[in-house]
Amino acid sequence: MLIDSHAHLDDPRFDNDRDKLINSLKNNGVEIVINIGADLQTSIASVALAEKYDHIYAAIGVHPHSAKEVDNSTIEVLKSFAKRDKVVAIGEIGLDYYYDNSPRDLQRKWFIEQLNLAKELDLPVVIHTREAQQETFDIIKDAAKDGKLRGVLHCFSGSPEIAMEYIKMGLYISLGGPVTFKNSRVSKEVAKAVPLDKLLIETDCPYLTPEPHRGKRNEPVFVKYVAGTIAELRGITYEELTKATNKNTRDLFGIDK
Ligand code: NI
Repeated sequence: MLIDSHAHLDDPRFDNDRDKLINSLKNNGVEIVINIGADLQTSIASVALAEKYDHIYAAIGVHPHSAKEVDNSTIEVLKSFAKRDKVVAIGEIGLDYYYDNSPRDLQRKWFIEQLNLAKELDLPVVIHTREAQQETFDIIKDAAKDGKLRGVLHCFSGSPEIAMEYIKMGLYISLGGPVTFKNSRVSKEVAKAVPLDKLLIETDCPYLTPEPHRGKRNEPVFVKYVAGTIAELRGITYEELTKATNKNTRDLFGIDK
């Protein structure tokens, strides 16, 4: 059985078959999905899905794209939802200087505020970063100084060296569909370099569909292709790989505690 550590099943692209798809997950080898919010609306949708289905857990937070919509009341709402049993993380949060959908100063401000919120609530964080590698690194390094930051760099696209720096700070590294792409040399290097007890796997569905389904809508069962690729790259069995990534995901998000 597999865990998809990062999915967006509340996305409109699942509107026509969401319940059917979620109900069929276990029969298709996926035992747990962490559904990730990206703004207040999708965070609340994430909690609703988690409360409807035993095998779904929720992360809540505001993505850098929506940083311009955040104010202090947003943080208060997140704080109150964070107390629910099925909420296991704050995320996804971070910096995105590729799209720049929100001003960078606001992205930084609300990233830092949400890192602090997670530490205050003793929840792990799910971090998104794109074209903002150095600033993300500096902010996380500062937040991790007190030893209280836990979390994962989702769909990690940096180098193996940077991955190891994050691991030293106590964070996990998660890989998704891109590791299966033929041209993703750096991702494949990361898949080989990250210690097995620090690695997570994910789909980020409906985005980033792995080979051999690239171009179609992504879904949690496709996490098996991510697992298969990484196991092959590392020269270990699929079972060894998934046993480790399942344990890491449960440990990080406190599932079964
Ligand atoms: Ni995502």
